[in-house]
Amino acid sequence: MNAFNGFSQKKVPFQNPTLSTEQRVKDLLSRMTVQEKAGQLNQLNGGAFTGPALNDAGQAEKSKMVKDGRVGSMLNVTGVADTRAIQQTAMQSRLGIPLIFGYDVIHGYKTIFPVPLAEACSWDLAAIEKNSAVVAKEAAAAGIHWTFAPMCDISNDPRWGRVMEGAGEDPYYGGLVAAARVKGLQGKGNDNEHILACVKHFAAYGAVEAGREYNQVDVSRVMLWNKYLPPYKAAVEAGAATVMNAFNVLDGVPASANKFLVTDVLKNKWAFKGFLVSDWASFKESIAHGYAADEKDAALKAMQAGSMMDMQSNVSEKYIPELVKEGKITMAQLDDAVGRILFQKFKLGLFEDPFKFCNEQRESATLFSAANRAVAKTAAEKSIVLLKNNNNILPLDKNKKIALIGFYANSKDDMFDFWIAQGKSSDAVPVYEGLKNKFSNLSFCNGYNADNTTSEALINEAIQNAGAADVIVVNIGISGKMAGEDRSLGNPVISDGQIALLTALQKTGKPVVALVSSARPLVLTQAEPLVNALVQCWILGTEHGNAIASMLSGEFNPSAKTVMTFPFAVGQIPIYYNHFNTGRPEQTDGMGNWYSRYRDMTREPLYPFGHGLSYTSFTYGELRLSASSIKKEDRLTVTVNVSNTGKMDGEEIVQLYTRDHAASVVRPVKELKAYKKIMLKAGETMELRFTLTKNDLSFFDANGNTVIEPGKFSVFVGGSSEQVKQADFELK
Ligand code: BGC
Repeated sequence: MNAFNGFSQKKVPFQNPTLSTEQRVKDLLSRMTVQEKAGQLNQLNGGAFTGPALNDAGQAEKSKMVKDGRVGSMLNVTGVADTRAIQQTAMQSRLGIPLIFGYDVIHGYKTIFPVPLAEACSWDLAAIEKNSAVVAKEAAAAGIHWTFAPMCDISNDPRWGRVMEGAGEDPYYGGLVAAARVKGLQGKGNDNEHILACVKHFAAYGAVEAGREYNQVDVSRVMLWNKYLPPYKAAVEAGAATVMNAFNVLDGVPASANKFLVTDVLKNKWAFKGFLVSDWASFKESIAHGYAADEKDAALKAMQAGSMMDMQSNVSEKYIPELVKEGKITMAQLDDAVGRILFQKFKLGLFEDPFKFCNEQRESATLFSAANRAVAKTAAEKSIVLLKNNNNILPLDKNKKIALIGFYANSKDDMFDFWIAQGKSSDAVPVYEGLKNKFSNLSFCNGYNADNTTSEALINEAIQNAGAADVIVVNIGISGKMAGEDRSLGNPVISDGQIALLTALQKTGKPVVALVSSARPLVLTQAEPLVNALVQCWILGTEHGNAIASMLSGEFNPSAKTVMTFPFAVGQIPIYYNHFNTGRPEQTDGMGNWYSRYRDMTREPLYPFGHGLSYTSFTYGELRLSASSIKKEDRLTVTVNVSNTGKMDGEEIVQLYTRDHAASVVRPVKELKAYKKIMLKAGETMELRFTLTKNDLSFFDANGNTVIEPGKFSVFVGGSSEQVKQADFELK
């Protein structure tokens, strides 16, 4: 035990919990050497790799670095036993500063929830917050202090594999979801059941060109402020403790070294008080980007931008002492970065008890508990999007004879993506198993191979099974392994093999229900006419098969609506509902009319943002506005009647969009501004009221200033971004 160790008898100010956190941070900083400060900025990988293996020291060397106070955090170390062992080593360092353990707990630690994109399709913020709280509780019980989530990157490109980690294409809704996730993960803080959140990837990583991973980004300031920044901002405002730099460039400057993003926007304009961590080796990647000359230059440029913790590049710990000596980095700059990290460690209570998250009994009682699985099942049900249901073929009577076809329906290996923390596909329920629990008359065959090709033999077997059944349920899509980082796809479509299978099945004349597995919208245009019902099942987590069975049987009436547009063709991508009108929006026939279109296909998507069906149906009355013209300070009330005109009780997501017709910066044709998720009994009508304020009618100019301008506005309310009722008003 050393003089400063947290358990020493003689307490110095930073060890005194009755002092304010600011006082304790200040005292500790005053006792640290520059090398120790640089150490706090160093985050090392301690487990499985979640990026390229750069600079990776061996275990013994890492352990020595921890003991020498040259490491502030580790990532990918999991479980009470391992985190405790490494924390014990950290406690032997001169000042006994505890490590903070970070991990990608993206949609579950051991109990796996739907991928974040799917979860967002529930439009259920209370449920999303609750899911995040369960996820945090499991991670915290396993020694984790900090997750690298939520991802707040807006994306319009299903070629990009990481769309699965976000909340889709809408900035307003993305902000609501990001805030709910932050609140669920962090709770009120300072207990041992919540963990720190990390808003990532700052900023505009979702705009990678052509959807190609790690590619360049080039967005205008108007787009940045209005479209890309709002979800990060909402997450910061919700109290997120940390933010992660992105891999991409912005204005030609790598995000980790981008002073505009880090200092001007995040620290100054948004008054962010937490700390930043780089993405995996992103400080060092400034060299490959062509921005930094060498490692020392990379460390300098990241620090000068205001960035802080260095994940896995090892350039800060190595060069900061030299850079301080040379006067290139000031002590104030260094203290700001280190002080923010220490502040969070104090707030977590790690100085009082570095082993606060280390309790084996709690770990085994919490992970994968029946209660957690029940929450995950509800989350999975709420994520399923019913895209098409001709003649109400769904739900299926439990006595029906079902031919379940599709390799993925029985392949645990293909159920999950890369980001499942300590989840195991062997613990998950595939569709076949889920259906077996619900439907007694069920056959199964593969229909296609693991690589999505098929053969005459597989198709014949499928036709035979179909012949003996009342209804065919076929699981198409892509493997879960194709979701996440470094999983960009140039052609996100249904494979030829699966289309051949669907074509053969359609010819049997039996009704066909297609379940689509994919963590992104695929182009479903070829599949759609071959099936009677089309269900976007995403990757639903541990309870995947159980949730799908409960939806197919009608025990759960689907209510989710897609938060990403489904393209009609790959050539339309990027495609999104909140686009500009262009100067030539007219849609007329004939070659002579020159307007914004494709000559070889429609410009419309297959399914728009906000689309999703229920087993019941809803109709909307005309919109009633409280006034036809309002002043800036006024509120406008929009009233609408929504009726359940079907035979089942059901939930509807009522969406409100606006359009600003003439503005100093062109505004989209529609912008989501509000929504309500309501439950209506069969035959019931509900009157809904929305209130619009000047906040809803404003936008950002190129400098990030909020602007509100008089003129004509439209308001739209409906069950998707396309199926809407409209009314207009004037802002004086
Ligand atoms: C990803 C981050 C992740 C980090 C740590 C990076 O490759 O971009 O999202 O948090 O690795 O695993």
